[in-house]
Amino acid sequence: MRGTRGRASVEIDIFTLFPEWFQWFYTQRHVRNALAAGSRLECVGIREHTPLSGGQVDDTPFGGGAGMVLRVDVMEAALRARYGVDPMELRDRRRVVALTPGGRLLDDGYVSELAAEDSLTLLCGRYEGFDERIVEHFASDTLSIGRYVLSGGEPAAMVVCDAVLRKLPGSLGDAHSAVEESFSEALEGNPEYPHYTRPAEYRGWRVPDVLLSGHHERIESWRRERSRERAQDR
Ligand SMILES: C[S@@+](CC[C@H](N)C(=O)[O-])C[C@H]1O[C@@H](n2cnc3c(N)ncnc32)[C@H](O)[C@@H]1O
Repeated sequence: MRGTRGRASVEIDIFTLFPEWFQWFYTQRHVRNALAAGSRLECVGIREHTPLSGGQVDDTPFGGGAGMVLRVDVMEAALRARYGVDPMELRDRRRVVALTPGGRLLDDGYVSELAAEDSLTLLCGRYEGFDERIVEHFASDTLSIGRYVLSGGEPAAMVVCDAVLRKLPGSLGDAHSAVEESFSEALEGNPEYPHYTRPAEYRGWRVPDVLLSGHHERIESWRRERSRERAQDR
């Protein structure tokens, strides 16, 4: 079921041929915090559910060409094993996101949309990618983390999970970090302003005086101005 904005937790299933990729990811602090606060992140090993012999999951492309294509019957078996329904019906119940280089580009608005869901399913491709019928009939979205090609969907899934989980309450040490950051509403969708810390002067590079002034209104206005400038520059 689709949720409402401002949820406290999300349940994410990642379908992958390489679940072991995520072992390190699980140990990261903000991920652990998000899980402790009620979110769930689980990997489903696609190969474990293949109906084909010898753990086969892919096949050569019709029409010829390089590489191997992830089979639609194999993906269906994995989705059925997890959810117990025809995967065609699944996307009415939860967001099923196929990770593809040519998909909808991930940005802060898209992350917020995903973070507002109760549950997400991320499908990681490998090799030449998905049999297109997986995308057409099982997925609700195609998502790209950028216009370049990775070897597999796993790093893309981590990017999505990282960006989604840090939007949820309890994930970050300081909840305010996610409220006022690049592209947030608080900064009118602009990149964040520059930060500085001690020493106040280093090799002759001085921190802007206003930041040392203790004058909160002037600091606030200086930050907004730098943030707008950065939006124009980029
Ligand atoms: C080698 S890529 C397949 C590339 C595909 N043949 C093409 O030219 O678009 C294998 C898998 O990595 C994932 N992938 C690669 N680049 C990605 C990106 N920029 N965003 C999201 N997923 C990506 C997808 O799941 C894809 O199926």
